[in-house]
Amino acid sequence: MKFVANTYGAFAVPEKNNGRGENSSRRSVIAGIVCCATGGKLSRAQPGTGESFQGLDQLARVKGMKFGSEIRGEELRDQQYCRLVRKDCGIVVAGNELKWQLTEPRPNVMSFEGGNSLLDFSDKNGLKFRGTNLVWNRPENLPKWVNEFDFGRNSGRLAEKIITRHIISECKHYKSVISWDVVNEAIDQDSGAMRETVLSKVLGDELVELCFQIARHAAPDAELVYNDYMSWNLSSTKHRAGVLRLLERLRKHSTPVDALGIQSHIGPRLADGVLGNSVQEDRDWRRFLDDVTGMGYRIVLTELDIRDDYLTAMFESRDQVAADYVKRYLDLTLSYKQVKHVISWGMVDKYSWLKTAAPEHLGQARRPLPYDSSYQAKPIRDAIARALVAAPVR
Ligand code: G3I
Repeated sequence: MKFVANTYGAFAVPEKNNGRGENSSRRSVIAGIVCCATGGKLSRAQPGTGESFQGLDQLARVKGMKFGSEIRGEELRDQQYCRLVRKDCGIVVAGNELKWQLTEPRPNVMSFEGGNSLLDFSDKNGLKFRGTNLVWNRPENLPKWVNEFDFGRNSGRLAEKIITRHIISECKHYKSVISWDVVNEAIDQDSGAMRETVLSKVLGDELVELCFQIARHAAPDAELVYNDYMSWNLSSTKHRAGVLRLLERLRKHSTPVDALGIQSHIGPRLADGVLGNSVQEDRDWRRFLDDVTGMGYRIVLTELDIRDDYLTAMFESRDQVAADYVKRYLDLTLSYKQVKHVISWGMVDKYSWLKTAAPEHLGQARRPLPYDSSYQAKPIRDAIARALVAAPVR
């Protein structure tokens, strides 16, 4: 057994596992660690599972924020899932259905059915609606036909036309979207430079400026967001620096960007399985948030979840460690009053993208969201609730 100490306490580094997602010799040790990390209060009140506890959005609203979740068609066919969304959310975001690959599968052939049913659900339940995303600047996330498009001699003009038509059609169709991720993940995480796509090759980095200008024209009342996954980990240093450079440039060019979307897929440093930040990492995160807000941007936490399968403990204690980490992340980040919405990337573990994104570490079931796959509230939900209660009013 190997332990790593950090400012958040000490955590076990994954070693061997018995194949059932637990390691009996480690159980008591982990429980002790969790106890230590939570100030000795291991028997903290469990989150309620009935109708009695307050919805997360109710708690957020008191502080001038909104709480919400990603939703997809698949999830909305599940009545128990819908019940949780109604209970906890004041805002929802379409998980996939508003992405360019799905809304314009062939040139100038728009397909809005999937998104319409999500919008219908949000309207019927009085929920606000976010859209993600208009242009996802990664080759694998652009429509195939865009990647294969022959831009020919008038390449710049043609690319501009394609983007303009797409953004206008989508924004005009989804008029009630209150907040759009206009450009998603334009910065390369390793170099901090702009990612290269067929569109950026033709239009240059100013592709980003163009998208926001068109979006402002097409959706004058919506919040316009640049969304990316730079995190508070040391490994994200170059990514954060690249995003800051982009945000500075957008300000310099008076580009109409209202907010930075911080996706918030949080988790351990994968190389060593350690969940916890150093003093330096905390300091760097504050500096990043200072710089972003100092430029006048608001912040939206757009896709909160936690990758927990590197914590090789029994579910109960693992859930608590993960929840404490979420609480710590939110406490620090929500101390910035410029954070307006907190959005979870789903409500129930079994629907999480993390279930299928990559093989689970040592075959352990990931439990990244506020509710488990039997719809029971987990400590993560409690952590979000407590962080919202602790956050300053904005
Ligand atoms: O619906 C089809 C199904 O018919 C088909 O059989 C199956 C075979 O692969 O694919 C299904 O579609 C998948 C879709 O998720 C529905 O779950 C797509 O292949 C798959 O690429 C898609 O992945 C989504 C991914 O973005 C790419 O768009 C994830 O659900 C979604 O959670 C994820 O979300 C992203 C955010 O937009 C940006 N930030 C990172 C985040 C996680 O990757």
